[in-house]
Amino acid sequence: MKKIIATILVSALPLFGHAAYPLDKVDIDLRDKAAMQDGLKTFVNYCLGCHGMKFQRYERVATDLGISEEDMMENIVFTDAKIGDHMRTSMTDDQAKKWFGVVPPDLTMVARVRGADWLYTYLRTFYADPSRPLGANNKVFDNVGMPNVLVALQGNQVIDCKQVPLIENGKKVFDPLTGSPITEESCDELVIEKGTGSMSEQEFDETVKNLVTFLEYSANPVKLKSQRIGTYVLLFLAVFFVFAYLLKREYWKDVK
Ligand code: HEC
Repeated sequence: MKKIIATILVSALPLFGHAAYPLDKVDIDLRDKAAMQDGLKTFVNYCLGCHGMKFQRYERVATDLGISEEDMMENIVFTDAKIGDHMRTSMTDDQAKKWFGVVPPDLTMVARVRGADWLYTYLRTFYADPSRPLGANNKVFDNVGMPNVLVALQGNQVIDCKQVPLIENGKKVFDPLTGSPITEESCDELVIEKGTGSMSEQEFDETVKNLVTFLEYSANPVKLKSQRIGTYVLLFLAVFFVFAYLLKREYWKDVK
């Protein structure tokens, strides 16, 4: 049994292997409707062209996020979709394959698969890479097939390679001849070229955080409700246990 568990763990390692780039943490508040509304707006403007949310209806989103049907139809629904329709992308799979080589995945559940921290980091770590067909690469999704769609907001992000001291076993390594520290090239730092984006770094982080909040909501539309119900169920069980126990004592009194 132990061997089987060990085998499973070891074979799962490659899944975590490429998480070399540290993920930025994001605090998501699923009660923040303003954040989710802002995220929804960003989603329809910048993502829905390629990614659908086919398990999500406009109507349901409007209700959950506190948007009136009128506002929803006027400001959010750009296609000829009706309020009761699912949020589908207008791009067909064939077009997607032709243009990007892959079909952009449906994003209804992506927050469950990837997690909020991963999404938050992913959407902020696109950088210019002329060697890629679409001119962009990503720090947490190596050789990604998605173009850098938020570049106009964030600005042009580039890799800043630097010489940093070589560290081995937690210590700097020195050249035995010259006595000076040995350096290596590190290309983990990203910098945004000044004046190339319409948002400041803080504004952009906030926009992405709101977008991730919306994605998180979409993957868990009943999360808040189920947490509340869960609490009631536990409370009920606790009270029920007391009565069940008293009843059992009562019955067994006569048996013994
Ligand atoms: C021009 C088309 C296009 C647009 C617009 C676009 N994407 Fe993508 N996206 C793609 C493609 C293509 C992939 C698949 C990349 C791959 O597999 O290499 C992808 C992949 C992703 C993934 C990774 C999914 C996974 O788990 O593998 C996420 C998350 C994502 N996109 C989110 C977004 C968000 C959020 C937006 C809006 C800000 C957006 N995308 C806009 C084309 C697009």
